[in-house]
Amino acid sequence: MRSLAREWIFRDVTNSKGQPRAASRFLSIRAFWVTLPLQLALAAAAAGASPAANPHYVGSQACKPCHIAIYGRWKQTRMANVVRDPRVDPQAFLCDFSKPNPFFKFRKSDIAFVYGSHWKQRYFVKRGSDYFVLPVQWDIVRQRWEKYHPHSGDDWWVPDYPESQMQRPTGPLCDGCHSVNYDIKTKTVTEWNVGCERCHGPGSEHVQAPWNFQHNIVNPARLDFVRANDDCIQCHSQLRPLANPIQGVYYDWAVGYQPGDRLSNVVRLENQRLGVHDFFYWPDGSAQKNRMQENDFVTSAMYEHGVTCFDCHDPHGTDNKDLLIKPGGQMCLECHGPDSPNGPRGSLEEHTHHQAGSLGSSCLDCHMPRIDVQVDSFSVRSHTFRFISPALTIKYGIPNPCTSCHKHKTSQWALDQLQQWQNVSPWRLERRN
Ligand code: HEC
Ligand code: HEC
Ligand code: HEC
Ligand code: HEC
Ligand code: HEC
Ligand code: HEC
Ligand code: HEC
Ligand code: HEC
Repeated sequence: MRSLAREWIFRDVTNSKGQPRAASRFLSIRAFWVTLPLQLALAAAAAGASPAANPHYVGSQACKPCHIAIYGRWKQTRMANVVRDPRVDPQAFLCDFSKPNPFFKFRKSDIAFVYGSHWKQRYFVKRGSDYFVLPVQWDIVRQRWEKYHPHSGDDWWVPDYPESQMQRPTGPLCDGCHSVNYDIKTKTVTEWNVGCERCHGPGSEHVQAPWNFQHNIVNPARLDFVRANDDCIQCHSQLRPLANPIQGVYYDWAVGYQPGDRLSNVVRLENQRLGVHDFFYWPDGSAQKNRMQENDFVTSAMYEHGVTCFDCHDPHGTDNKDLLIKPGGQMCLECHGPDSPNGPRGSLEEHTHHQAGSLGSSCLDCHMPRIDVQVDSFSVRSHTFRFISPALTIKYGIPNPCTSCHKHKTSQWALDQLQQWQNVSPWRLERRN
């Protein structure tokens, strides 16, 4: 037990990458030992646990007694609050019922689940054991009603389903990404929302034998970079199960995947066709639809070098926008400070050709432009991290960062400026790179 205890203490002060962790966590390990019997009892009670041959899902509530700080942060994140039952949480409705809604009228009492709180909100009704999405959504950013009705040419699954929204159940089309352990046979879940075990795998054995944590729970930080990123790709991408149709039904999420697996064993990412502009991709292969961070990120040199989503985002919650570990462009400077071997070469000003502090010196605006459509004309940030050359705007119509900011200028103007930047190669500007 002693050597294990030392190991736990070691893990507490340095994380898997050898970075220091908050000292307060070091102290908490003493409290952990003192209260271990109580914690085990609480966890077992919450899990309804009895020893079992195969690990099974026990729900985030069972993790709380021992990981109280992580639980507390996670509970505040949007991932922990995608799906809300308005009878439990009447505040969940963000829409304004007094505004004209020509698309589909409904009453609060019709709604089983309210979905989303940031960009858009959709409304689920229950019929039998299935849920269905109403053909209307609330644009939170612009505060207005919009039609919601995927047509052919939109989502790939449209031809496989009837035209009516009331004949497109959410089980195959949505629920697998907003829950833990959606069972396609019983149409039940362990819990709604992105609970702990959705990223860490089933926890029954871990809650009973936490000292054996290296073997009975998945820590993405210990996985190789493919499996580590797969843990986020399972939801943050456009993909299709290889086994589709599964017993006659077409699924839009990674049926059968468990954290720690290779996702490519069960799904493929949505194909991109270079030169073709469709619902999912710009002609240069950058994602055009929201929720495709991973389709983008796997094309980046950062991915190849082993960078993960959670090098930049802390899925347990932070005070920064979008769960970033450091706010905005500061995140980039963690690995791209002056003279870093990761680039860019030279000083910030030499690289950006804008004064430090100018809008035009923002890493995010040039390398993560808002070109992924979220609702109607509102877009979120690209995750290829590629600089999109104005030459590609001229050839393919994909927006470039220069004229997205210098709105009154032409792409040719931007290209001419770039041709004069002696540290940018004119050859690369003509290519997708
Ligand atoms: C009875 C206490 C207890 C319960 C309940 C518990 N854990 Fe743990 N867990 C621990 C201890 C102790 C460690 C090792 C020290 C540390 O990393 O904090 C640990 C470590 C972990 C790790 C890191 C594993 C590694 O390889 O580094 C993860 C991930 C984790 N727990 C997730 C969970 C999840 C998810 C649940 C709920 C299903 C849960 N824990 C429930 C006590 C518990
Ligand atoms: C969206 C995915 C996701 C969810 C949800 C999630 N985690 Fe994690 N967790 C991760 C990742 C990724 C890491 C590795 C982070 C790192 O070390 O950089 C991690 C690391 C951990 C660790 C070990 C490292 C540490 O910070 O102590 C513990 C313990 C843990 N998680 C517990 C939990 C518990 C308990 C919950 C639910 C309250 C939870 N996690 C929810 C993805 C998730
Ligand atoms: C493959 C996984 C996956 C599937 C399938 C999926 N979603 Fe999502 N959904 C996500 C992720 C990840 C996000 C957040 C990231 C983003 O939007 O870029 C999201 C975001 C949302 C939001 C916006 C939340 C907000 O706060 O603005 C709503 C609403 C939503 N989904 C509803 C649905 C509905 C309805 C379906 C089925 C028709 C569905 N989703 C299918 C993974 C999925
Ligand atoms: C190199 C750092 C980095 C990596 C790696 C990274 N992101 Fe991001 N992500 C960001 C930044 C920066 C933002 C935008 C923050 C802002 O707008 O202020 C962001 C925004 C987001 C958002 C919010 C929606 C949006 O685009 O505005 C989601 C969701 C997201 N990232 C998911 C992911 C996922 C999933 C992965 C792995 C495939 C990932 N990110 C990898 C830096 C990163
Ligand atoms: C089970 C599906 C699922 C998994 C797994 C998942 N996400 Fe998410 N994520 C979502 C959904 C759904 C949302 C949208 C929540 C909303 O807006 O209501 C979201 C939102 C986000 C956001 C933006 C929301 C915010 O609070 O700022 C980030 C960043 C993010 N996820 C990163 C990650 C990372 C990193 C991982 C892997 C460690 C991951 N996600 C794994 C489903 C998932
Ligand atoms: C965890 C470390 C890390 C963080 C944080 C990080 N990067 Fe990187 N980045 C790398 C590594 C490693 C490479 C590959 C360097 C090489 O090719 O030798 C790289 C390469 C790049 C490249 C060139 C290759 C490509 O994929 O086009 C760009 C552009 C880039 N990063 C932008 C960013 C931006 C913008 C941010 C902030 C949102 C950021 N990086 C944050 C580690 C990081
Ligand atoms: C997010 C906004 C933003 C982006 C992206 C941006 N700029 Fe700028 N740019 C500015 C601002 C603001 C100025 C005013 C001077 C300053 O603050 O540096 C400026 C000044 C300039 C100037 C000198 C003044 C002028 O208008 O002739 C040139 C040339 C220029 N930018 C070219 C570019 C090129 C080429 C790109 C793409 C590689 C680009 N900018 C991307 C905001 C931006
Ligand atoms: C005004 C636009 C602009 C801004 C702002 C900007 N970049 Fe770049 N970046 C470029 C261009 C143009 C290239 C060259 C693209 C190519 O050759 O394909 C580039 C290339 C890179 C590369 C790969 C080549 C190299 O030099 O190593 C990295 C890494 C990079 N940028 C990181 C950053 C980081 C980090 C920031 C924020 C500190 C940043 N960039 C801000 C326009 C910009």
